[in-house]
Amino acid sequence: MKRSLLITCLGLAALLAGCERPPVQSTQNGYRGTGMVQVQNPRTEAKKLAAETPPPELPPSTPADGQPLAKDIYQNVQVLGDLPVGEFTRHMLAITAWVAPEQGCTYCHGDNLADDSKYQKVVARRMLQMNRTINAGWKTHVADTGVTCYTCHRGKPVPDKVWFTAPTPKMNRVGPGFGDDAGQNRADPSIALASLPYDPFTPFLLNAEPIRAQGTTALPTGNRASTKQAEWTYSLMNHMSEGLGVNCTFCHNTQSFQSWQGPPQRATAWHGIRMARTLNTDYLVPLTASFPAHRLGPTGDVAKVNCATCHQGVNKPLRGLAMAKDFAGLTGPAPAATAAVEVPAAGVTPVAAAAPSGVKAVLLFGVSASALPAAQSSKLAPVIAALKAQPAAKAVVSGYHSATGTLAANQELSKKRAFAVRDALAAAGIAADRIQLEKPQQTEANAAGEDTAARRVEVSVR
Ligand code: HEC
Ligand code: HEC
Ligand code: HEC
Ligand code: HEC
Repeated sequence: MKRSLLITCLGLAALLAGCERPPVQSTQNGYRGTGMVQVQNPRTEAKKLAAETPPPELPPSTPADGQPLAKDIYQNVQVLGDLPVGEFTRHMLAITAWVAPEQGCTYCHGDNLADDSKYQKVVARRMLQMNRTINAGWKTHVADTGVTCYTCHRGKPVPDKVWFTAPTPKMNRVGPGFGDDAGQNRADPSIALASLPYDPFTPFLLNAEPIRAQGTTALPTGNRASTKQAEWTYSLMNHMSEGLGVNCTFCHNTQSFQSWQGPPQRATAWHGIRMARTLNTDYLVPLTASFPAHRLGPTGDVAKVNCATCHQGVNKPLRGLAMAKDFAGLTGPAPAATAAVEVPAAGVTPVAAAAPSGVKAVLLFGVSASALPAAQSSKLAPVIAALKAQPAAKAVVSGYHSATGTLAANQELSKKRAFAVRDALAAAGIAADRIQLEKPQQTEANAAGEDTAARRVEVSVR
């Protein structure tokens, strides 16, 4: 009896060793009785605060006093040309302190400062433009606080928190005869050690798969989101909570996760998801060819941004410190979305653009039809032109259907639609191995009924 009591006590102690020691701090951030409480461990918080280092001190901006502009003095300034020379130099000092304090100017420059032969400089120029896009174009998320290179880099050439696409589950076999892990059950820190899918980033922060999975009616009618899809959503949510160091109640009234009647932070987060996706698709992915191979991930992809890249465990990056306002070069007008930027391959002096063009076409189909209407096939012209101009690029084809009818028949229909577009591309002389069929995670493109825009095939050049 005594022995079993002892074993029970020891067992309990062992069990509790993994828990956090009370007391914890709780802050109410919703109406009483709604259970909207943020729970934080003051000791963990104190440790986190102590580990944070203040950003490097930089010289204050000085009046221009009729100084010439950088573009009038230097040979190759494409982004910061309108800054007075003194301010331009201050920007160079700042980005050195933010990104490469140990390496110094030579991290990006050789003997000739105007030369673009180092990939670091090519990437840095694009990052300057990315910074402007964030600060000028995403005020819905970053408000007037904005970001600088330091927000992500924190004194290091490669930010601490980046992500790569996980290799397909087939490559993650648990062992011979044990099958694959289906992209799950790996207790990854980025999703708070859950056994949920460990790469929620590729579907949501690179591709635009639907995040919302919950039904809107009491009975299961109409909602065709699968359990697996809901698991992806929860993975992303775990990352968002972990990345910001907050509980789910920071953004949700957890009485109903789908309701928008909760804290305003949820809307900010909604924009954040779109912003992170845009930074990845418009800035980082097109830079892939510029990076040396050792910087790329297991599937040859470039390091990308998620919520943690900027936030690093805090609800507002750098606890809301507004650094960008002192750097006109980072807050200037956002570059036009279509601005063609030359992205040379690693170690190569810039000649011609090697970046994927991002050309895309959406072709619409008739009700229950899988034949490609002639009027729609003309929309393929820019795609075909882009493929012919870029021999390394591929066409990715995905079929979708509307919500009317049975799911099985509809999935077959969206497949046939994708085949029709594949055949049209092949007929235009595109080699079969350059046409990739990709089944979207959700082929159903609208919530209910017949919808012209839902009956479609998307083709993009990658
Ligand atoms: C993280 C990369 C990076 C670091 C570090 C860096 N630079 Fe630059 N530098 C650039 C980029 C990018 C440009 C081009 C900016 C543009 O196109 O608007 C540039 C341009 C210049 C130019 C203009 C050259 C010309 O004739 O076109 C000068 C001068 C310069 N940098 C000086 C410096 C000095 C001095 C340092 C060290 C204090 C430094 N840079 C550190 C990225 C860097
Ligand atoms: C939103 C986050 C973010 C911001 C802001 C940002 N960067 Fe980056 N940066 C990245 C990511 C992600 C990479 C890819 C990491 C890698 O190099 O593999 C990167 C890579 C780089 C590299 C290449 C480093 C290497 O050795 O591979 C340079 C240089 C760089 N950034 C400069 C800058 C400069 C200069 C700024 C400010 C004008 C800036 N970055 C702002 C996220 C950011
Ligand atoms: C930083 C804010 C934020 C945090 C923290 C957060 N969420 Fe979310 N959540 C959102 C946003 C924004 C959406 C909607 C995304 C969209 O539509 O693109 C969402 C959507 C959801 C959905 C889908 C609802 C539907 O309509 O189908 C579920 C379920 C969910 N969250 C659960 C959670 C859980 C569980 C946690 C805690 C582990 C959590 N969320 C933490 C912002 C947040
Ligand atoms: C490019 C950097 C960057 C990235 C990436 C980023 N954020 Fe933010 N976020 C910010 C900045 C800066 C603020 C502060 C804005 C302010 O002062 O109001 C902020 C604020 C927020 C807030 C409001 C916090 C509060 O206390 O009111 C939420 C919620 C949030 N971010 C969620 C997210 C989520 C979720 C993601 C990933 C999907 C994300 N962010 C990605 C820079 C970023």
